[in-house]
Amino acid sequence: MVDLNEKKARDQWGSRFGFIMAAAGSAIGLGNLWKFPYMAGKNGGGAFVFVYFIILLLVGFTLMLAEIAIGRHTQLSAVGAYKKLSEKWSWLGAMGVLAGFLILSFYSVVGGWVINYIIKSVTGVFSTADVDVLGGLFTGLITNPVEPLIYHAIFMIITLAIVIGGISGGIEKASKILMPALFIMMFIVMLRALTLEGAMEGVKFLLAPDFSKINGEVILAALGQVFFSLSLGMGCMITYGSYLSKDEDIVQSAMIIPLLDTAIALLAGLTILPAVFAFGFNPGEGPGLLFVTLPAVFSKMPLGSLFAFIFFVLVLFAALTSAISLLEVTVSYMVDEFRWERKKATFTMAAIIFLVGATASLGLGVWSNIKIVGGRDIFDSLDFTASNILLPLGGMLMCIFIGWVWGLENAIKEASNQGKLAFKLAPFWGFLVKWVAPVAIGIVFLNSTGLLDI
Ligand code: PFF
Repeated sequence: MVDLNEKKARDQWGSRFGFIMAAAGSAIGLGNLWKFPYMAGKNGGGAFVFVYFIILLLVGFTLMLAEIAIGRHTQLSAVGAYKKLSEKWSWLGAMGVLAGFLILSFYSVVGGWVINYIIKSVTGVFSTADVDVLGGLFTGLITNPVEPLIYHAIFMIITLAIVIGGISGGIEKASKILMPALFIMMFIVMLRALTLEGAMEGVKFLLAPDFSKINGEVILAALGQVFFSLSLGMGCMITYGSYLSKDEDIVQSAMIIPLLDTAIALLAGLTILPAVFAFGFNPGEGPGLLFVTLPAVFSKMPLGSLFAFIFFVLVLFAALTSAISLLEVTVSYMVDEFRWERKKATFTMAAIIFLVGATASLGLGVWSNIKIVGGRDIFDSLDFTASNILLPLGGMLMCIFIGWVWGLENAIKEASNQGKLAFKLAPFWGFLVKWVAPVAIGIVFLNSTGLLDI
């Protein structure tokens, strides 16, 4: 199993299964369980999911393979990889590092909420399905000036300890059990949610698109969500791909990872939105959706508290496997580019990320009057800037880089293991990378700035 901390002798994944589990570990996280359902709820339900699928098919799969191919070809993480292929493009890797930095800052705040909810489940707070009580519990937590900061710190310290201790090998082993466990657990909870009275309204809301709800804002939100959920656009998959051996079938891996990721997002959506309708919550509620609806579902299950506990522990685990990939991108940048010692890089970056995240947390409570990007609070501003701007921009520029600088031929050679593997869709993939993905992302950007009205 690869140890991401071992920089000298370049390690490789023990098996393709190990790589897929680690990459899926990065992709599957709060983006699927927490963000996907609330983004769908806020952006018109089925309309959002419909647009999400189109972008996933045209851009998600395409860029997953593109990132893995760059990584495996260069055997370097993002900044080094771009530098190796063209000295002039290393800033693109740096932009990804910035995106990862911003994402981890608010991600860790949400990770902290999960830790708090694990404790709440043990102390038996969740014995009610009362909307007001559960909403009050959540709001009480996130608007408190001190409590969420403590949990945010705990989450960050665990992430730091994993990255610094070089025990990612152990994490990967654990992934092989805990990821499937999360899947099974989600499935059981989904069955309970779907059999609640009134749940079908939620299924309809999520799966039957009302096309009149599709607008520039919904499309930009779906685009950002595809990137966020698949860990694309910031070089994370370049780094993971760099540890792959030259004879793995990366075309197949690049299909499996998005499929697993999407399956978990749909499971979460099909659990949370039906519960929203069954209990009379508001689907547009925002970041609290996971935290207020699921306890209500657990209260209606036999052994509900036990289920709640196991569930939130698995959510925490999924969040941690994503968080370590985010911190790793920042740390390896400082180590590779500025020759920082690994320990110093990890502590320093974790501390700065904690402080930025603390402002996001306070922005939901005592600093909620502070608005930054487009009238958003600090938390949403960080998310919007990183997920909806930096990641898609990074992805678009990477496509331009591959299509016009590195060259499609080279990329296809890498993806097909120098022609040893049959990569039948190569011309189609090339067309998507060179034209469809960058043009589509460009149009979504222009449209959302109002410069182009579609
Ligand atoms: N994909 C992760 C999630 O869905 O929770 C978040 C993430 C991890 C985004 C790593 C970007 C990244 F590089």
